Amino acid sequence: MKVAFLGKGGSGKSTMATAFVRELRKRGIGVLAIDADYNMDLSYNLGAEPSVFLGNDPEKLKEHVGSVRADTYLNALKLAKEKGFVFTITPADGYTESISVELENGLRLITAGPHTDRVRSQEACSHSLAAPLKVYLPLLRLNPNEAVVIDERAGTDPVATGILSGVDLAVIVREPTVNSIRVAEQIKSELEFAKIPHLIVENKHKGIEVDTARAAEAIFAARSSHVVSV
Ligand SMILES: Nc1ncnc2c1ncn2[C@@H]1O[C@H](COP(=O)(O)OP(=O)(O)OP(=O)(O)O)[C@@H](O)[C@H]1O
Ligand SMILES: [Mg+2]
Repeated sequence: MKVAFLGKGGSGKSTMATAFVRELRKRGIGVLAIDADYNMDLSYNLGAEPSVFLGNDPEKLKEHVGSVRADTYLNALKLAKEKGFVFTITPADGYTESISVELENGLRLITAGPHTDRVRSQEACSHSLAAPLKVYLPLLRLNPNEAVVIDERAGTDPVATGILSGVDLAVIVREPTVNSIRVAEQIKSELEFAKIPHLIVENKHKGIEVDTARAAEAIFAARSSHVVSV
């Protein structure tokens, strides 16, 4: 299971993603947490001081998948697929080792950000920080007792950049505000276009903050039935 958390800014993506990681760990499921947001809230929520970054290193990724001649990530993915290349978490392959930290036995973290000098100097777009996921996620083969939890940037952007390819389920976190509901609808329509199964989690409804552990349990229960709303 590879699950991504999406939603308007401040809706509770990182809070829910963190609760979901904890729920999976409670069930004895090995987790690869991916913090795709340069704010790095998921990393800090999990108690990490991020020191290793996915960043922007297409050459390193292409070397690992044996596609050094590929001009784009998309072509690198195509070539790697043709060769039958896969990434694994347990045991971690060399690339996974080099871009992640093991926070505890059964919990590994990949952090995309923060902004690099190349981004600051406008040589590269900030999207480049998470872009290697476009190749990594579709090629990542999980054991039955493993899961990936991705905390995304705000809004519809992550769906449009293609980094959700390879995700089995997208969770849209929605607050009961006009703007949050509108953005959730936009995200939903992009997910439908991309044919990515998704469900909506209502957060902070009726002025009462949702029990995130219970929401995480509900997501876990709904994961294979593609229920649209929890
Ligand atoms: N269910 C909840 N219970 C208590 N606090 C919550 C809950 N959901 C969100 N919050 C609080 O709301 C704020 C925003 O939450 P969070 O950082 O998870 O949102 P986000 O969607 O990840 O934001 P961003 O767009 O900045 O990444 C935080 O202060 C968080 O502690
Ligand atoms: Mg966040």
